[in-house]
Amino acid sequence: MPVAVVVGTQWGDEGKAKVIDLLAETHSHVVRYQGGHNAGHTVVVGDQKYALQLIPSGVLYNHVTPVIGNGVVVDLPTLFKEIDSLESRGISCSRLMVSSLAQLIFPWHQLLDALHESKLGDAKIGTTLKGIGPAYADKALRVGLRVGMVRDIPAFAQLVRERATAAREMLVALGGESFDVEAMVTQFTELGTRLQPYVADTVNALHKAIEAGNNVLLEGAQATFLDLDHGTYPFVTSSNPTAGGACAGTGIGPRHISRVVGIAKAYTTRVGSGPFPTELIGELGDKIVDIGHEFGTVTGRRRRPGWLDLVMLRHAVRINSLTEIALTKLDILDTFDEVRVCVGYLLNGKPLDGYPDDSQLLGEVTPTYVDLPGWKQEIRACRTYDQLPARAQAIVELVEKHVGVPVSIIGVGPERDACVVRA
Ligand code: GDP
Ligand code: IMO
Ligand code: MG
Repeated sequence: MPVAVVVGTQWGDEGKAKVIDLLAETHSHVVRYQGGHNAGHTVVVGDQKYALQLIPSGVLYNHVTPVIGNGVVVDLPTLFKEIDSLESRGISCSRLMVSSLAQLIFPWHQLLDALHESKLGDAKIGTTLKGIGPAYADKALRVGLRVGMVRDIPAFAQLVRERATAAREMLVALGGESFDVEAMVTQFTELGTRLQPYVADTVNALHKAIEAGNNVLLEGAQATFLDLDHGTYPFVTSSNPTAGGACAGTGIGPRHISRVVGIAKAYTTRVGSGPFPTELIGELGDKIVDIGHEFGTVTGRRRRPGWLDLVMLRHAVRINSLTEIALTKLDILDTFDEVRVCVGYLLNGKPLDGYPDDSQLLGEVTPTYVDLPGWKQEIRACRTYDQLPARAQAIVELVEKHVGVPVSIIGVGPERDACVVRA
């Protein structure tokens, strides 16, 4: 069974792209299965840094076919900006396939996203304002426009005109800005025409690749606790980043999947609002943000820092059927005197049985911690498990003991080869 899934186990930005780039070496296709340009996936190769939002993180290899699967919401201006930027740096995107079943994002989705957020005031979600929620809402309402519609440009132009007119009416009624419908029709007719060569029956193409014995890698964006069903609702994204979403978002059934790699940072971060039991406010948190460069790739916002939370990680193991964990950014903790790891929650002084089904409670729990002494030395040159200091190995072993699956990859730096891969 040749299909592997990479999924975030926290609130995003765990270093998924780096692990995908690493695993892509042995895969023929890398497929984004949900989300859109709210994702910011960073790959570092040598002195070159690539920040990807829509194009799958396997694009840097010539042997990889990058695929945007049916579960993704596609913003065409961002897609072509990314293609142009990669191609100007010598990375070909000619093999890119975009599912005919994927949904398109339009500027009115972004206007609606901003309007919903401003109406929420202090209760805002803190979205990326990329129109993700409104685009998925249109999909669920069955009024969204799909990528395959650009195969017939005159019909597509008419559909854009109709949807834009309806969206403008709604926006104005809600107190939002108006916009020029015909200018949008012209813009999207051009973008739709440019999209045509990339449009593909990706479900069929992926099954053919699997039947021919190739390995396929499914790339999650966002993360388990931003999942629309399993995350800290309503402070979540509007898709299913969890492993089940990989099946729905690619058309590959669960029996093909043999490997599900959960990516966890050695600490935790979150962008936007919502509960965060192990959040660190103050000097230690600032230290993590400074050393870890914890600022969003997409919005530039400071990420909220906190300690590693094994209650969440154990839940992520269950929800995603994780077969293993990649523990990233361990090097960021090199200078800490002590490293704390949350192993349980107390509610009103009593231990909770695992992760609660009510996110409201997550805002009220007190974490219980195991405190580990820091290793106080640089680990970025380590390439084998034996080379890691015993005190750094202790955190890896605590994770394994607590969540019940092996830690197969340990990140010790941002570069492609800066990791320990355990056999
Ligand atoms: P993603 O959204 O999960 O793909 O993660 P991002 O790319 O948004 O954020 C992860 C950041 O950490 C990027 O800047 C990566 O280059 C960097 N990174 C990934 N793994 C490691 C690691 O093991 N050590 C260090 N120091 N940086 C890492
Ligand atoms: P990657 O793939 C971190 C967060 C936003 C907000 C919430 C909803 O790089 O890990 P949305 O725009 O999706 O409606 O915002 O989700 N969010 C992310 N946080 N990493 C991401 O992607 C995120 N994508 C969305 O900050 O809290
Ligand atoms: Mg990111």
